[in-house]
Formats: sequence, C-alpha cells, structure tokens
Amino acid sequence: MKLLVTGGAGFIGSNFIRYILACHRGDSIVNLDKLTYSGNLQTLRDMENDRRYAFVRGDIGDRSKVRKILAAGFDAIVHFAAETHVDRSILNGSAFIQTNVLGTQCLMDAAREAGIKRFVLVSTDEVYGSAPAGKKFTEESPLAPNSPYAASKAGGDLWARAHFRTFRFPVIITRCTNNYGPYQYPEKFIPLMLTRAAKGQSIPVYGDGMQVRDWIWVKDHCAGLDAALRKGREGETYNFGAGNEWPNLEIARHLLRLLGKPESLLEFVQDRPGHDRRYALDSEKAHRELGWTPETGLEEGLKQTVDWYAQNADWVRHVESRGYRAYYRKQYDRRDLTLAKALAHGGRK
Ligand code: NAD
Ligand code: TYD
Repeated sequence: MKLLVTGGAGFIGSNFIRYILACHRGDSIVNLDKLTYSGNLQTLRDMENDRRYAFVRGDIGDRSKVRKILAAGFDAIVHFAAETHVDRSILNGSAFIQTNVLGTQCLMDAAREAGIKRFVLVSTDEVYGSAPAGKKFTEESPLAPNSPYAASKAGGDLWARAHFRTFRFPVIITRCTNNYGPYQYPEKFIPLMLTRAAKGQSIPVYGDGMQVRDWIWVKDHCAGLDAALRKGREGETYNFGAGNEWPNLEIARHLLRLLGKPESLLEFVQDRPGHDRRYALDSEKAHRELGWTPETGLEEGLKQTVDWYAQNADWVRHVESRGYRAYYRKQYDRRDLTLAKALAHGGRK
C-alpha cells in the first residue's frame, strides 16, 4: 500500500510508521506533519534513509497543500495528526478546534474529492467520557466527551461518521485507550513521571490519584490500526482496549519501584477540572472482526518503557530543549527535501 500518514512525527504515528515499514516490506509512506511542539523528526531519524519513507512538513488544515499531496495518489490515509494533551486543551482550546475539527474536516473533504479508497481516523476512548464502575463502553455507547480535547476529537469522529452516512466515504474510526511506550512526549503521565523521577523531581498526582486508565502498549495499538486499515469494514468503528485498568497512583508507585526511587517523590496536587474518573472499553468487535488482541502485558510494557527512557536520555533532552523544532526545521530546509521530491521518494515501492 502507498500510505499518507498524518501526524507521523508524534508518538503513536512514529511508532506506526516503524511498525508498517517493518511488517509490510512493499508499503511506502509519506508523513505529513506540521511539527508542532510534540512533533519531532529526531524520532524518525533512522527512517530517513529508507527509500519507502518521505517527510512533508505541512498542516492538515492547509487545503491547497493537502490537495497537492493527495494528487500524488495514495491507497489510504491514516490520520493521527492532532492536538492531544487534555491539560493544554483546558488552558486554551483554539488549536484543538483548529486541528482536530477543522483540520480533520479539511483533510477528509480533500480525501473525498481525491477519491481515496480508505481512510482510518484515529479517534480516542475519551469521546465516550467517564465509564461508570463495572461498565465498559462498546462502539454503540453514546459519545459524552468531558474535556475540551475529547470534545474536539468527538467533532472529528462525528464528522467521519457523517461522511460515511452522507457520501459513503470509506472511513474507519478507531477508538483506543491510553497508550504508553517509546517516543511519548514527556508531558503525558508516564513519560512525565519517568523523566522527572530520573532527575529527582516530584511527580504531580492529580487529586486522589485513583483515576483509572486502561493502558495499552503503543505497538499493540499500531497492530490494531494496521488490522483496521486492511480488514476493517467501511463506516465501522473499532474500540481498542487492553484490559489493563490501573489507578494512576498504582502506576506511579510501580514505576518508582522499577526506578529504585522513593515514594516521597509523589506530590498530590489539585485535581484537573472535569477529570474523567475511569476509561474502559469493550474491544470484542476488534477481536472478532479484525482478529486483533493486544499482546504485551502491562508490567512487561512498563519495564520496557522505563528501560527505553533510561537509554534514550538524549532524545528526552532534545525534546525538552526549546530549540529542537527550529533545529529540525533548519535541517529539513537545508536538505532541500522539496514537496515534489518527497512525494516521488515516498511513492517508490
Ligand atoms: P502527539 O501529540 O504525540 O503527536 C501529534 C502529532 O500531530 C505531532 O507530530 C504534531 O506535530 C502533529 N500535528 C499536530 N497538529 C497538526 C496539524 N495541524 N497538521 C499536521 N500535523 C499536526 O499525539 P499522539 O499521542 O501520538 O496521538 C496521535 C493520535 O492518536 C491523536 O489523534 C490522538 O487523539 C490519538 N490517540 C492518542 C492516544 C494516546 O494515548 N496518546 C490514545 C487514543 C488516541
Ligand atoms: P494523561 O497522560 O494526560 O492522559 P489522559 O488525560 O488523556 O488520560 O494523564 C493520564 C492520567 O494521569 C490522567 O488521569 C491524569 C493523570 N495525570 C496526573 O495525575 N498527573 C500529571 O502530571 C499528568 C500529566 C496526568
């Protein structure tokens, strides 16, 4: 397949690109990414010489650029690009509406015009809101987003549904739980803990720390997306959960034990406003229709994540330094990877 991946310089998108190029030797990928604060080309440095991969810097909301890119012809689009951090969405929601709603609309409209045959929209379990104790959301559960981030993702998700109903646009929606693993930007809970604890800094635990998340190893999510891309039914939604429901406090204590750091680093801070108490998904449909099952146990995945962050302190330093985006933009320009060249490059099989 010749794929257009959006947001591939971020956490899950970069893991997905690596996953696809390793598992499907004949596939090629063009990665369209705006390089916001969370997009980082260092993450994909080892891909740079792979002739099946090309990077194009751009905004999914830039209609003329998106049209030009799509004119190169793609078999499918896998759409990750988004503003993703709940706390940032509480401080200022504008970029969330801009990218997650309007950007998604722009990309999907352009994809429809271009006659794209498959479009995977990477949505989130957060669109369902907080799961009552003992209940898991199915794909039929109503959407009830509580954070500005979740509301903006629900906007893109519903736009996709409407596109299928109205235009028979071949979209597949996926809703996954909290991912963890290599290359996650250290503002999210697990990498924030690992990077702060490593420096002996306190770990902020929101409220009582008893909020439950279902943690999934990022490569298991990538495998689910790959299955949805190749086997999913158009117009359908697939939940991806891992059945690893742990309270935040338990995750924090477990990681401190793995790091050999004291629990005195835990600092209970004011709770996040509108904080969802629990996320939990029923993924039976993905098991049944896609043959997908997550394979990595939480303790094994956390151990690998701790090791990865310990062994990749340079990457962490790099993303924490304010100059890194400017540096990569400069590198990118110096290499003169023009749009046309990038597309020809990514199009080669
Ligand atoms: P991330 O913040 O690490 O990466 C987002 C990427 O999108 C970055 O590379 C950024 O530069 C790019 N981007 C942002 N705005 C853009 C725009 N307007 N045009 C082009 N590129 C743009 O996020 P992530 O954690 O990798 O999440 C990827 C997707 O998966 C998102 O859609 C998110 O909602 C969804 N998701 C994430 C999780 C999770 O636990 N992280 C769970 C379920 C679903
Ligand atoms: P996060 O990684 O931001 O993901 P999401 O809010 O999308 O689930 O947060 C995971 C959980 O950890 C969530 O319940 C909020 C909590 N949390 C903290 O307790 N302290 C922190 O510093 C952060 C960033 C999150």
